[in-house]
Amino acid sequence: MCKTVDKSGPRVQQMFGEIAGRYDFLNHLLSLNIDRYWRWRTVRSVPPTDGASILDLCTGTGDLALAYHRATGGRARIVGADFCREMLVIARQKGAKAKVGDAVTFIEADAQHLPLASDQFQIVSVAFGLRNVADTAVGLAEMVRVCAPGGRVAVLEFSSPSWQPFKAIYGWYFRHLLPRIGQWFARNRQSAYSYLPESVGEFPQGEELAQLMRDAELTDVWYRGLTLGVCTLYVGTKGRE
Ligand SMILES: C[S@@+](CC[C@H](N)C(=O)[O-])C[C@H]1O[C@@H](n2cnc3c(N)ncnc32)[C@H](O)[C@@H]1O
Repeated sequence: MCKTVDKSGPRVQQMFGEIAGRYDFLNHLLSLNIDRYWRWRTVRSVPPTDGASILDLCTGTGDLALAYHRATGGRARIVGADFCREMLVIARQKGAKAKVGDAVTFIEADAQHLPLASDQFQIVSVAFGLRNVADTAVGLAEMVRVCAPGGRVAVLEFSSPSWQPFKAIYGWYFRHLLPRIGQWFARNRQSAYSYLPESVGEFPQGEELAQLMRDAELTDVWYRGLTLGVCTLYVGTKGRE
């Protein structure tokens, strides 16, 4: 498929920088709060053990990193990484409010060149982030590199429902109504809420993304649609060899 969406680093950084202050509000509004459930399902499907180390990539305002923190009662070492400073400012404020202390650290880093040692995290997660990384295969390769042998990689991403008539109704909402509501509230120059359906439309989903995960040398890859296929959770395991 010919890629037309501009995912260059500066464009994506600027776009999220412009909407950072409204990101959480719009996420909950546009998903009718279901985004909280999707992250909760991710944590439940890829549960941490006590003392685990977890990397949440493209962490944004930190919701998945903080969901993992809550699930472990603070007994995991969690790193949230993102390359958008404005999103990280909010993540750190939320972390301070939740009194996470040293248990959760937010770092500025590009998902394609992580300043992190190999083979160290039991869980490497990414929610609604991999789609924005300019080179999906490079992003996945970095996730696998920093994952510990036997650890798991979890990718939560939007997908297109296939069940009619929901497919048609949701498709109209996602392509026409959501960009208008998002743009109205966020008032950003980079049209972040038109970018959303455009980038989802171009991004591999289902078996295609699962195959990219296998190509990145993950094994036992499975995926499951959530909320009638609006979103899909993909999980793979890094081999011990
Ligand atoms: C849609 S937000 C998702 C935020 C969060 N994970 C969530 O569940 O709400 C996408 C995030 O990916 C980040 N991002 C996109 N490309 C990136 C890259 N190459 N490296 C690091 N972060 C990136 C953006 O800055 C943004 O914060």
